[in-house]
This record gives sequence, structure tokens and C-alpha cells, in this order.
Amino acid sequence: MEQGHALEVLLTEEEIADKVSFLGEQISRDYAGSGELVLVAVLRGSVYFAVDLSRCLAIPFVLDFIGISSYAAKTDPLGIVRITKDLDTNIASKNVLLVEDIVDTGLTLNYLLKNLRTRKPLSLRVCALLDMPARRIVNVPVDYRGFEMPDVYVVGYGLDYQERYRNLKEIAVLK
Ligand code: IMP
Repeated sequence: MEQGHALEVLLTEEEIADKVSFLGEQISRDYAGSGELVLVAVLRGSVYFAVDLSRCLAIPFVLDFIGISSYAAKTDPLGIVRITKDLDTNIASKNVLLVEDIVDTGLTLNYLLKNLRTRKPLSLRVCALLDMPARRIVNVPVDYRGFEMPDVYVVGYGLDYQERYRNLKEIAVLK
């Protein structure tokens, strides 16, 4: 879908769907029989991935959302990430899976993990569709990883450039 910039598709709709279903199976196996799982999607980019992933889960779960201002991480690498919408669920003593669209510098994820850990979940893991290890500033654990990406700015499947391109079915690089 053309919206003004030239786009080069890196991951097709089918490649994404196959990976999401693979991750869903892996997560379902790992959490089978281990009680209630809280899927935490990070607003706003992860929503597309989290919803599709949730449809591939064969285990009970609660879907909840946490909102953060990503401006801090994007414009000021040392800036503090701010929570703009908190979880509605009490995650104490629950298995929590944080669902991220992309782990880039790792600053956002690092902040979120620290914050969620203070709430004493039973377990806390991370599922990220895209991982850009070359851009990492802080070391963060990624337990379930979809694709490792080169150091490029990508859009689509929830990821935006100035709020555009979230609705692309593919993941593409802006030219
Ligand atoms: P961080 O640098 O790992 O803290 O990434 C913070 C957030 O910036 C991610 O959750 C995305 O919302 C956004 N982001 C980072 N890299 C990209 C990109 O290549 N395209 C679109 N959004 C990105």
C-alpha cells in the first residue's frame, strides 16, 4: 500500500503470519498447564502483533495493555520512558508475557521490565516480533523472537513513521 514514500517489502504478510503462528505454538507449549497467563501488549505498535498472536494461543490468557510514551526513547536515548496507560490487571503471582513489536535500543523494554518486576509476577518473559541487535544500547532478554532485522527503519504491521503505515500488511523499509 503506497502512502507517499517508496517502500521495500522485507517481510510479506504470509511470512509474518507463519511466524506468528509458530510463536503461538511455542508459547502454548511452554505455558501449558502453568496457570493463567497475562499477555501485555505495549501500546500502540504492538497491538496488531499481540492480537494476531493471541489468536494462535491454545491456552487460557488475559489480554491487557500498557501505554508508554516512546518519544523519550526515540529522541533522547537517556530519557525516561513514561507510562501513559497502566495495566488494568493485577499481575502479582501471575505469568506475564510482554509482547513487543520491535526491540531496537532496548531502552523501552528495559524500563518496562523493571517496572513490571516491581509488581512481583510469578514469571516475566518477552516476546518480540522483530529484534534489531545491532542497535542495542542496553542488554535485555528476548525469550521469543520472530525475526532478526538489519539496522534499518521499518514500518507496517503496527509500526509507524510519524503515525503512518501502521496498517500495512507487510513489514517494509522506508526508502
Ligand atoms: P527501543 O529503541 O528498543 O526502546 O524501541 C522503542 C520503540 O520505538 C519500539 O517499541 C517501536 O515502537 C519504536 N521503534 C524502534 N525502531 C523502530 C523502527 O524501525 N520502526 C518503527 N518503530 C520503531
